Amino acid sequence: MTDKKLRELLNDMTLEEKVNQLVQIPGSYYDKNASVTGGIENSRFSETQRSQAGSILGITGAKTLRQIQETYMENHPHHIPLLFMLDVIHGLRTIFPMPLALGATFDPNLVELTAQAAARESAVSGIHVTFAPMADLVRDARWGRVMESTGEDTYLNSLMTAAMVSGFQGNHPGEPERIAACVKHFAAYGKPEGGREYSNVELSEHALREFYLPAYESGIRAGSELVMASFNTLNGIPSSGNHWLMQKVLRKEMGFDGVLISDWASIEEMIHHGFCQDEKEAAKKAIEAGVDIDMATTIYANHLAGMVKSGEITEACIDEAAYRVLRLKNRLGLFENPFKDGDEDKEKEVILSGEHRALARKAARESVVLLKNEKDVQTGKKLLPVNSEEIVAFIGPYVQSKGLHSTWAIKGRAEDAVSIREAAEENMVNENVMFACGCGMMNRDNGMILKRHIDETLTEADLGIFDEQTEKQIEREALEAAAKASLVVLCLGEHRLLSGEAASRSDIGIPMVQLELFRKVSEVNPRIVTVIFGGRPLDLREISEKSMAVLEVWLPGTEGGNAIVDVLTGAYNPSGKLPVSFPYSVGQIPVHYNEYATGRPLNGKEDIAFYRSRYLDIPNHPLYPFGYGLSYTDFVISPVELSRKTIGGAEKSLKAFVTVKNAGSRKGTETVQLYIRDIAASVVRPVKELKGICKVTLEQGEEQKVEFEITEEMLQFHDADGRLTSEPGSYLLWIDNSSDTEAGAEFALERKEHI
Ligand code: BGC
Repeated sequence: MTDKKLRELLNDMTLEEKVNQLVQIPGSYYDKNASVTGGIENSRFSETQRSQAGSILGITGAKTLRQIQETYMENHPHHIPLLFMLDVIHGLRTIFPMPLALGATFDPNLVELTAQAAARESAVSGIHVTFAPMADLVRDARWGRVMESTGEDTYLNSLMTAAMVSGFQGNHPGEPERIAACVKHFAAYGKPEGGREYSNVELSEHALREFYLPAYESGIRAGSELVMASFNTLNGIPSSGNHWLMQKVLRKEMGFDGVLISDWASIEEMIHHGFCQDEKEAAKKAIEAGVDIDMATTIYANHLAGMVKSGEITEACIDEAAYRVLRLKNRLGLFENPFKDGDEDKEKEVILSGEHRALARKAARESVVLLKNEKDVQTGKKLLPVNSEEIVAFIGPYVQSKGLHSTWAIKGRAEDAVSIREAAEENMVNENVMFACGCGMMNRDNGMILKRHIDETLTEADLGIFDEQTEKQIEREALEAAAKASLVVLCLGEHRLLSGEAASRSDIGIPMVQLELFRKVSEVNPRIVTVIFGGRPLDLREISEKSMAVLEVWLPGTEGGNAIVDVLTGAYNPSGKLPVSFPYSVGQIPVHYNEYATGRPLNGKEDIAFYRSRYLDIPNHPLYPFGYGLSYTDFVISPVELSRKTIGGAEKSLKAFVTVKNAGSRKGTETVQLYIRDIAASVVRPVKELKGICKVTLEQGEEQKVEFEITEEMLQFHDADGRLTSEPGSYLLWIDNSSDTEAGAEFALERKEHI
């Protein structure tokens, strides 16, 4: 439909019809299997409101959505189609690794492909919009939604957010098998106080602009059709009513012209925050801030029309929001084809297709991070990859578990997943492998807490807990297997229900029941490879110290087992890098590599002087730093060379380069990382910031030059007045394979007038 026609349609609509476009109802009105991610009181929407609301969230399926659409359009005075939205976060039915794991691939192209596959499965199932990507910067592993972010770094998050938007939308969301993206949660939802879900965010405007906003902006520049407002307050103002944030920063400065949707009931929650006295005030503040759609409450539905009539808000406000919603429907092509790609036959063909499974396996293996791999003193060889002669005992609650996807894989099914056991039986010599569960997934008391908070109907089997007698028996079997084996692969970690929305934790350790098993096994057989699952960086101190090798495998998705066995056997050489620092202990949080230097920084890790910025009982450094990850081969990176020492004058940039050599004994992939530090500036700058990445795959003995172009733009930051600028002076630059790197090269930016 032309824009002119769309405007004519808008002009023809009654005020009530226009308001209806701004109302989103939960799918549970239509389908008892709808995903519900917030409080729900179905009776609140009247029959008319429910049948006229402009969009629905949480349901999927080509057949169901077609039926709903047909009935809705028949009854709609202007036959305007509905929008169907769903949280498709890391896949619809083919589940890719959780977003934090995707961050660990350091590969935006691959991440784009996973989003594209997720879009394809969703589109054929009748979905029009996904509530993804989550661009929130996270530096606190206690927060359960760390799994849904791509980590602690502004640059990496920006790349990944843009990649996901492109993957979902392609060049245009109206294209076949694409859906519209929604960058969320604007803004700074990833920094709740104390890591506690839904708690408040206090953040200087400087830090907000410098570190938190760029990833959202990157998604918007990539063309995201929607943005979602966050639940949190930002410096005292809830986002859904934050006029400055939405009108000035989002709409004006970032130029976002698409649909702004609230989070689940976040408009209503402004009353609980104590920011609005009643529903009418909440409606007024939200619509005037520019929030177009009210998700899951009746606030807009009940109040907006009346408030226009009483003159409390203008009709222009409603027109603007309704126009944006109609325009989104039009961009998706729904006026021409209200079902878009929804097609039952295609659903069968596309969902969990061989192609998607292969991509899920690729993404999962590229997300695995090898944290430790020691040499065996007897054989003189590193423990991994597992030698085909070894007799391997796979032990732990994750050996047989198919709970390999996060709580945000709403439509993912455990039965579709490949467990480690299944993969090992398929891909390893059967006589050489044994399997034992060893212990439960969590202690009984933790299981009961989850049951109480999440769902009373969760069974002991769902939670992975056993009675005392079974515990004893499976432990005995595990210890026997460990004693018989030449090598133990312990598959441990946090249950999937312990991360995700509303799953903040103050204890980020391995569950005690598993740690006890680990201790007992290590007494029987110290040749241990530990494979760690979970939705957050866990406290791995003891595991890391007592295991000879450690693999971080996150929540790896449908093809998790296959991917992990590929890595264990060496069919794939691990290449993942940490997108977050793994804290030494919870007391170190927040810990991230790109901190500011204090006035009394440590002078190297060995500095023991007293009056320094440090903890007395733990190191400042995380257990494993951002950007870190080993390979089965050895890469040697030469010292950095610069094409010139300054940027300025006629020369707008300089080249920084290294040679990367595969000095080990097999093919492998290294992620070369560029970091820069502004040595002195008008505001203090981080000790190091990631500014470039380059993945290189080299055969044994092969070498390759890796070059980065350094431009003035890369040196820009927000000064004390909030201006984006760069300042002349000296800079340090590192090119290495982790953020933990020492030897940098120096260059200078000459005065601006010379540039
Ligand atoms: C979450 C959003 C999600 C929405 C809809 C909320 O609880 O914060 O991220 O998109 O529910 O399911």
